[in-house]
Amino acid sequence: MTQILPSIFGADILHLQDEIDFLEAEQTEILHVDLMDGNFVSNIAFGPNQIAAMKQHSTMTFDVHMMVEQPNDHLEDVIQTGAEMISVHYEATPHIHSILQKIRKAKRKAGVVINPGTPEAALEYLLEEIDYILIMTINPGQPGQTFIRKSLEKIRNTKKLIGDRNILIEVDGGVNKELAKQCAEAGADLIVVGGALFSEDKKARYEELKKAVQ
Ligand code: DX5
Ligand code: ZN
Repeated sequence: MTQILPSIFGADILHLQDEIDFLEAEQTEILHVDLMDGNFVSNIAFGPNQIAAMKQHSTMTFDVHMMVEQPNDHLEDVIQTGAEMISVHYEATPHIHSILQKIRKAKRKAGVVINPGTPEAALEYLLEEIDYILIMTINPGQPGQTFIRKSLEKIRNTKKLIGDRNILIEVDGGVNKELAKQCAEAGADLIVVGGALFSEDKKARYEELKKAVQ
């Protein structure tokens, strides 16, 4: 069953605790959390200390999306937050294989992220090391961007590449309820939503998003 993963980067930072409480009351299973270093992407988002604080206040599974230039330098801190799912950008390191192995060794789910310009063929030699693939449907870093439609083809191709392996497909960026439906139809299992959820009447929006991917 396809799931909606709220991205806490899109939430109201001045009411973070209320936002987390809202998501828990709505039975959210997985929370998507962006980690940015201002280098790999120009923006800066939550660091390990903030993630650990949120994690302590929550029973949700945390999916940490690492947008950092030196993922190896930050990995141990991210593991220490208690996050159950950790993903690293293919483009961020020449040693992606080894980092994915470290994530699994720490008994966390390992994900590899590919930017819009990275072909899905890059995943071929990593398939035995991963639990999920995160396909960026925008260029990472900034909220409020337009979904890149070519991503739907990438989701379908990735699905074929995975075959019968137990690997989930996640998508992130610019997704609204119509696009969530299309991503689910193309084969996405986990759909990250920021701006299209955290605005006025988020309860109703959340319901609509969930319904769209059923
Ligand atoms: C962007 C982040 C996303 C972001 C998505 O770089 O990786 O997780 O929060 O937000 P929307 O859904 O608003 O594009
Ligand atoms: Zn993200």
